[in-house]
Amino acid sequence: MDKTTIWYKKAIIYEIFTRSFYDSNNDGIGDINGIIDKLDYLEGLGIDAIWLTPIYLSPNKDSGYDVSDYYQINEEFGSISDIDRLIIEAHKRDIRVIMELVANHTSSSHKWFESASKSKKSRYRDYYIWRDNINYKLPNNWMSSRTGKSVWTYLDETDSYYLHLYTPYQPDLNWKNSNLRKEVIKIIKFWLDKGVDGFRLDVINKISKKEGLPDVDNSIYNGYAEIYFENQPKTHKYINEIRTEIISDYPNCIFIGQTSGVDLEEAFKYTLNEKKELDLFLQFEHTDMDKGPLGTLKKFDLKNFKDIVFKWQNAYNDELWNTIFLGSHDLPRMASHYGNVDYYKESAKMLATIQLFLRGTQIIYMGDEIGMTNVNYSSISDYSDIRTKDYYNKRVNENEENKEDVFRDIKKISRDNARTPMQWDNSKYAGFSNKKPWIKENENYKTINVKKQIDNENSILNYYKGLISLRKKEDVLINGKTERIEIHENLFAYKRKNDECNITVIANFSNENLFIDISNYGKKIIGNYCNDNYNELKPYEVVVFKE
Ligand code: GLC
Ligand code: CA
Repeated sequence: MDKTTIWYKKAIIYEIFTRSFYDSNNDGIGDINGIIDKLDYLEGLGIDAIWLTPIYLSPNKDSGYDVSDYYQINEEFGSISDIDRLIIEAHKRDIRVIMELVANHTSSSHKWFESASKSKKSRYRDYYIWRDNINYKLPNNWMSSRTGKSVWTYLDETDSYYLHLYTPYQPDLNWKNSNLRKEVIKIIKFWLDKGVDGFRLDVINKISKKEGLPDVDNSIYNGYAEIYFENQPKTHKYINEIRTEIISDYPNCIFIGQTSGVDLEEAFKYTLNEKKELDLFLQFEHTDMDKGPLGTLKKFDLKNFKDIVFKWQNAYNDELWNTIFLGSHDLPRMASHYGNVDYYKESAKMLATIQLFLRGTQIIYMGDEIGMTNVNYSSISDYSDIRTKDYYNKRVNENEENKEDVFRDIKKISRDNARTPMQWDNSKYAGFSNKKPWIKENENYKTINVKKQIDNENSILNYYKGLISLRKKEDVLINGKTERIEIHENLFAYKRKNDECNITVIANFSNENLFIDISNYGKKIIGNYCNDNYNELKPYEVVVFKE
C-alpha cells in the first residue's frame, strides 16, 4: 500500500493533557469547553489534529488512564454534548480529533472489575486475569516496572490474586476472552459514531501475555517480565481483529499504538499491512535512553541519541511510516530534557527545528510551542503524579536511598513536569484558571506564556508557526529521504533530500560556540539566531539551508 498521499503523513498532531490545558469554568481543572475556547489558537498554530489524554469517567488515580466507564465523560471535563460540540468545532477548522483508548486495563472501580472481584461466578470474572491463592505465594515473579512491586494483588473476597502491570488500581483485562474483545469493539464504534477520527491505543503492545504466565529468569531480567507481555504474537492478532471489524464502516479511522520497547522489526509488523493493525506507532527509544528503572537517570549521550534517531529515520520509506516526538505527558519537558534552561529560547527553537524537519508524522506536546520547561517544585508533596510518588516511595522507603538524591532524579523525570497548567498569560495561575489549579503552576509563567509571545515575531511560538508553514510548503520535508551528517560530535545534523532539492539542518547541541565552516549548504531558510556568520555556531544554534 502506497502511503505517499495519506493525510497523516503531512500531519502535525497536537497532544493535549486536558486537565491542564484551559479551565473554562474556573474550578481549577482544564476541561473540554476550555479546548473549544482555544481552537482558534490551535488553528493559528497550524496543527491538523488534536489528541486528548483520557476524558472518560475515572477515579483519576493515573490521570484518567484508569477508566471506570468508557461511555461517560468525567464530569470535571464536561459532558457528552461538550464532546459532540468539540468534534463539530474542531472539524469546522479542519482539525481532526483523536481520543485515547485505554484498554489494556480498566480502573478497579469499573463495574466489570467490581463484579468480577466479588464472585468467581460473575459474568465478568474472566474479563480479568486471576490466579487462585495457594499458601499466599505470588503466582509468578513478575514485577511492575511502574511500581517496582509485584504485578499481583490478593483479594480476600474470592481468595485469589489479580494481575496488574501498572498500579493495583489498574487491573489488566484478559484479551483472551472474546466477549471482552467484543466490548472493546463496541466502545470504539460508539466513539467513531460520535465523529472522532481515530485513537491512540494506550500500551496496546501489552494486551497479550505469554501463555501460562511463566516466571522470568531473574538472573537476566530482575523480575521485569516485559519479554512475556510486550509484543506477543497474539497482540497482532487481537489488533487485527478490531481493525477488521471496523474497517469497512470507518475506513478513515486511524490507530496510533503506544508500543514501548519495540525494535524495528516488531514495530513495522504492526504497521506494514496498512489498515490491518496500526497506522502509526509511538516508540520511546530516543526519549528513554537515559532512563533507568524507577526513574533513575543515566547521562544523556548525544551520540547514542543520534544513533537511535537516525536508525529509525533510515527505516522509513514510502511504505513504512511512523511518528516523531520529543515531548509528551509522560516525559519531562523537551527544552529541559534535551536543551538547557539557561538557553531555553534557543533550545526550544533548536529542538523544534530538529523535530519538525525530520521524517514522520509530527506530534507536538502542548506548551512546548512556547518553550515551557520543567517545574521547580521544592517538595515531594507538590507532586501529584502516581508514578512519581511510587518511584519516590519505593526508592526512599524500601530501597533506603538518600532522599536528596532521589528528589534530584524526580525533579528531572517526573511526569508532572509536563502536566503543569498551560501558560496562557502572566495573570495569576498563568491565565489557565481564576481558581487555584489542581496542580501548582510553573513559577516561570510570567516570563513564558502565550500572550507574551503571540505578537512578538521573534518568539518561540512564532518560530514554530514558521517551521510548520515551511513543512507544509516543502514536500521534501514530508517525503524526502533523511541522511545523517557527521560534522562534529556536538552537532546534530542531517539532510532531507529528493530529486528537486536538499534541505540541511545543523544544530549545536551544546552551550559552547563552535567554529565550523557551514557556508556550503545553500541558502539559509530559517534559524534561531540572527547570525549570518557561517563560520560559527552559537550555543544551541540551529541553521537550516536549502540548495
Ligand atoms: C501509558 C500512558 C501513561 C499511563 C500508562 C498506563 O504509558 O501514556 O500516562 O500511565 O499508559 O495506562
Ligand atoms: Ca474546569
